[in-house]
Amino acid sequence: MSDSAPLSPAGDRHFDGLADKFAGSLYGGPRGELRLALLDELLPRMLELDGQPLLDVGGGLGQLSAWFARRGHRVTLLEPAGDMLAQARQELAGLPVSFVQAPLQALPERAAGRWPLIACHAVLEWLSDPKAAFATLAENLAPGGQLSLMVFNRDALRFSNVVKGNLQKALEDRLEGTGKRQRLTPISPLCHEQIVAWSRESGLAIRSVAGIRVFHDYLRQPPSSEADWQRLVELERRYCQVDPHWRLGRYLLYTLVHETRSPEETPR
Ligand SMILES: C[S@@+](CC[C@H](N)C(=O)[O-])C[C@H]1O[C@@H](n2cnc3c(N)ncnc32)[C@H](O)[C@@H]1O
Repeated sequence: MSDSAPLSPAGDRHFDGLADKFAGSLYGGPRGELRLALLDELLPRMLELDGQPLLDVGGGLGQLSAWFARRGHRVTLLEPAGDMLAQARQELAGLPVSFVQAPLQALPERAAGRWPLIACHAVLEWLSDPKAAFATLAENLAPGGQLSLMVFNRDALRFSNVVKGNLQKALEDRLEGTGKRQRLTPISPLCHEQIVAWSRESGLAIRSVAGIRVFHDYLRQPPSSEADWQRLVELERRYCQVDPHWRLGRYLLYTLVHETRSPEETPR
């Protein structure tokens, strides 16, 4: 991918040419291990799962799709970047997953229907118009359907910049990436208040929320032994849904539910 034209026509950061870098930096090390360990514990707790079909929007290399497929869900993985999709196809061979090469904006045509379960993890922050994308996700949920949404937390990004000494950058609130190079700083980091407002506007209720990596990314030194690593994992588990810690998780993980009105509540 050339550095001069890395964004899609819609201004989104598709991950074409980034499959290896993404695999290494987001999933390869302890950060990825911790994220997957926390999801493994949180998803069954935060979602009502009964094997319903899942649409995984911006599914990347397919780690989340694999998690659901191994638990008996038929999965449709939607992803615009061809090389991410090719790698996901290889990794997920033999699992009940179908693959659609398309962006979220094409969801109404390419994965039509009202879905009982949609996952969209770590995608909205790579879009130029995350609010419109959120509305599209909400519109494609069935009544009573659940959206598992994970977003990169702007407040956590500010905090980590200050901890690292990037004070001027934090003061000027220059937190987002430009998407112009092979950097993995999101172009649209989001805050909790935006998710609260967009949910209200789209008729979604926030059923639960958690912070993913509420301590790890602020450590002065990485854990120096396996025993310390296990202590850190236990702390992350214990406080990921506890006030005020979840608020500064590197990612915020939500379960959003499409509200259904009973006939008596329906306005005439
Ligand atoms: C950080 S990765 C997350 C992948 C996966 N959901 C996960 O949690 O591992 C972001 C993904 O969003 C995809 N993406 C970018 N723009 C998109 C769009 N408009 N619609 C759907 N996916 C998009 C990228 O190509 C990339 O695979």
